[in-house]
Amino acid sequence: MKASSSTLTIVFSILFLFLLNISLVTSDSALDNFLQCLPKHSNPSNPITDAVYTPNNSSFQSIYELRANNLRILSSATSKPVAIITALHESHAQATVICARSHGLQVRIRSGGHDYEGLSYTSDIPFVILDMFNLRSIQIDMASETAWVQAGATTGELYYRIAEKSKVHGFPSGVCTTLGIGGHFSGGGYGPLMRKYGLSIDNVIDAQLIDANGKILNRKSMGEDVFWAIRGGGGTSFGIILSWKIKLVRVPAKVTVFNVQRTLDQGATDLAFRWQQIAPNLPKDLFLRLQPEPITGTGNGNKTIRVSFIGHFLGQTGRLVQLMNANFPELGLQRSDCIEMSWVESTLFWAGFPNGTSIDILLNRVQEDRVFFKTKSDYYKKVIPKEGLETLWEVLLDIEDIFIQLNPYGGRMEEISESETAFAHRAGNLFKVQYTVLWSEADGGIGAAERYVEMSRRLYSVMAPYASSNPREAFLNYRDLDIGSNESNNTDFAVAKVYGAKYFKNNFLRLARVKAMVDPDNFFKNEQSIPPLPMPSH
Ligand SMILES: Cc1cc2nc3c(=O)[nH]c(=O)nc-3n(C[C@H](O)[C@H](O)[C@H](O)COP(=O)(O)OP(=O)(O)OC[C@H]3O[C@@H](n4cnc5c(N)ncnc54)[C@H](O)[C@@H]3O)c2cc1C
Ligand SMILES: *[C@@H]1O[C@H](CO)[C@@H](O)[C@H](O)[C@H]1NC(C)=O
Ligand SMILES: *[C@@H]1O[C@H](CO)[C@@H](O)[C@H](O)[C@H]1NC(C)=O
Ligand SMILES: *[C@@H]1O[C@H](CO)[C@@H](O)[C@H](O)[C@H]1NC(C)=O
Ligand SMILES: *[C@@H]1O[C@H](CO)[C@@H](O)[C@H](O)[C@H]1NC(C)=O
Ligand SMILES: *[C@@H]1O[C@H](CO)[C@@H](O)[C@H](O)[C@H]1NC(C)=O
Ligand SMILES: *[C@@H]1O[C@H](CO)[C@@H](O)[C@H](O)[C@H]1NC(C)=O
Repeated sequence: MKASSSTLTIVFSILFLFLLNISLVTSDSALDNFLQCLPKHSNPSNPITDAVYTPNNSSFQSIYELRANNLRILSSATSKPVAIITALHESHAQATVICARSHGLQVRIRSGGHDYEGLSYTSDIPFVILDMFNLRSIQIDMASETAWVQAGATTGELYYRIAEKSKVHGFPSGVCTTLGIGGHFSGGGYGPLMRKYGLSIDNVIDAQLIDANGKILNRKSMGEDVFWAIRGGGGTSFGIILSWKIKLVRVPAKVTVFNVQRTLDQGATDLAFRWQQIAPNLPKDLFLRLQPEPITGTGNGNKTIRVSFIGHFLGQTGRLVQLMNANFPELGLQRSDCIEMSWVESTLFWAGFPNGTSIDILLNRVQEDRVFFKTKSDYYKKVIPKEGLETLWEVLLDIEDIFIQLNPYGGRMEEISESETAFAHRAGNLFKVQYTVLWSEADGGIGAAERYVEMSRRLYSVMAPYASSNPREAFLNYRDLDIGSNESNNTDFAVAKVYGAKYFKNNFLRLARVKAMVDPDNFFKNEQSIPPLPMPSH
């Protein structure tokens, strides 16, 4: 059959359009090929089409946004994923790796979506999101006091499910109840049980990981080096965490919490100065966080600083008051300040829910009331002198919406060596600080981002003389691109060494060696991932 001239015209026009849109067309065909590849690599009894969203699907946008926790990132994201795979079965995650790799797409892994810089849902190069949110089973075995927890479960769900089985067990992990276990544990994971039991990863005993070839490994088959790396080195550089096996920890049937607040007029500066010497040395059962914030004072309407001393004690009021009077009498803790409750109820207290809230709220899987924010972190090995605190107060008073927390180290954190897991911030730290500047749409939304981010940088710079140095250490779970980063297609080892030393200290080189073993082509990467250790040149 001969082609008519009109058909030829159409063919040439299409060719012409093709040439004009060459880059667009290539990425479209990469997407088509990727989409066609998926069913070939996943279990047919769990159709992957049920899990695949492209911008064509009406719910694409809402699925993208639902777990994009930081509005600063969500509102400024310049590129969207070409597809989101909301894995409903392990094979969907495996297929995503195999097909993205063979068709030149990057994978961004998202569990709870709380990454402070949004690295789980943004990238500057064509990417797909592998959303682990639906893989969320929690299987608890009380006989061995262990549990298998899938990456998409939240911290709140974990706490709830443990409490269903036992009132005298708990697990050391984060305060926010919508964190995804996948991302949260792999960066360390800490909460008020840290001084007693260490981090989440210190209580992880096995894991399932999908490697860059799409294979599912466990502790035995991944080997001790990889198992070491994903405990504190961030999962995202090594593969996809499918699940963690954890050892539950014992807690008393009743724990005691309190929140005692003092303003500058009430001696907050002296108390904060003393706190630094006392809190890291208290018995392990006692975790005492310090949270200073600017408030509008009562009475004259002038602004002041109010410091909250927020305590968690694995025991009851009588013993707690005794301990506090012996160690920190200046604070003047009273019995009436103390509230006794079950451990699971204490997770609500820490998450900021009002007294009396039902524990069912732990099953709410998505963070409501999202804000715009920028966070930075510091470790302190020396006491901040009073002049330093006064400088800090001045800056806080100058910034409208700021939230800072000082979390005491010591206790169990002191006993675990820096090289036992990839998480290196151990003995010698008095406390870790989180500085978060946050604002809402009403405060200017994305248009005000630059101003607020600048405030966080100013605060960070005035605290430099007091914080750790060489390197100035930072907490991976408080991801901060300011401390050094490369582009989305990150390959530069020299750049990685800079943020690597801050996040991982001497563990960075070992992490890069492990990376070279398991993912030599650097398939799993983001702006702050760990590139493979370059081969020595001869
Ligand atoms: C409101 C709030 C409170 C917080 N409180 C605490 C706290 O008390 N203690 C604490 O330690 N941290 C806390 N964090 C920080 C939190 O631990 C980190 O942001 C953590 O990375 C969140 O994990 P995610 O799965 O929710 O986030 P995601 O954004 O989904 O993931 C975070 C990172 O991990 C990667 N990742 C996610 N899932 C996987 C997976 N399955 N396999 C491999 N890589 C994966 C992502 O690609 C990304 O790089 C808090 C954060 C917020 C926003
Ligand atoms: C999304 O749309 C595609 C067609 O564009 C369809 O094949 C797929 O099943 C849809 N996904 C879901 C989860 O409905
Ligand atoms: C999206 O829809 C358009 C037109 O409806 C179609 O041409 C395209 O192939 C679809 N893309 C996908 C990925 O389904
Ligand atoms: C409140 O602040 C103003 C301006 O700084 C100051 O002049 C005034 O004395 C303050 N009032 C009190 C009661 O401290
Ligand atoms: C908390 O609520 C309980 C009842 O639910 C009540 O007995 C207790 O006094 C409350 N405590 C505080 C500090 O409000
Ligand atoms: C990435 O690294 C290269 C080489 O050091 C550097 O030129 C580039 O500016 C870096 N990119 C970013 C975004 O930091
Ligand atoms: C990412 O970097 C690799 C290696 O340098 C290169 O081959 C690839 O084309 C880059 N991809 C993109 C999308 O820039």
